[in-house]
Amino acid sequence: MSFVTRLLARAEPIFSEARERDAVAIAAVHAASFQRGWGEDEFQRLLLDRAVVAHRATVGRTLIGFILSRAAADEAEILSTAIAPAWRGRGLARPLLDLNLRRLAGHGVRAVFLEVDGANAPACRLYRGAGFLEVGRRQGYYDSGATALVLRRDFG
Ligand SMILES: CC(C)(COP(=O)(O)OP(=O)(O)OC[C@H]1O[C@@H](n2cnc3c(N)ncnc32)[C@H](O)[C@@H]1OP(=O)(O)O)[C@@H](O)C(=O)NCCC(=O)NCCS
Repeated sequence: MSFVTRLLARAEPIFSEARERDAVAIAAVHAASFQRGWGEDEFQRLLLDRAVVAHRATVGRTLIGFILSRAAADEAEILSTAIAPAWRGRGLARPLLDLNLRRLAGHGVRAVFLEVDGANAPACRLYRGAGFLEVGRRQGYYDSGATALVLRRDFG
């Protein structure tokens, strides 16, 4: 392990709002996390969208995770979230999710929806732990044939 890697491994991640300039780093974490990556242009467009609420986790100047949601009136949808592979399994996704949910609630959102692959155990545990409940299923939704679970969390 290099000196820099050891230093980064000890550093505390910081959770903050993501900006347009984070598009390239977010696209890289997304590409490392999903079979079909979204392009930098797509993230740039989303980060400029006033309805999109975006947060990031950083260690030093390195972006190691993100979450994007989009609000419409009093409902919102989690569009995507991921933690860079080397940083998974340390409980970082939950504070990022909680920050995003708090911001949505602050915007007047009352219900948040998302779709998750039912076979994605870490993601399902993350969302259920954060109070999301299953409200629907889409059989064969993914290219793999896996079922998508539709989850919902209500505020207050
Ligand atoms: C889903 C993801 C964001 C979770 O990030 P993370 O920071 O590693 O999450 P955590 O360390 O808090 O783990 C989340 C939960 O999954 C559990 N978990 C971790 N790895 C697991 C595994 N291989 N199998 C089953 N459960 C696992 C953890 O114990 C935790 O559950 P708990 O809170 O009940 O203990 C991350 O795995 C990721 O980026 N995956 C690829 C992208 C993705 O699937 N995004 C979600 C799409 S909807």
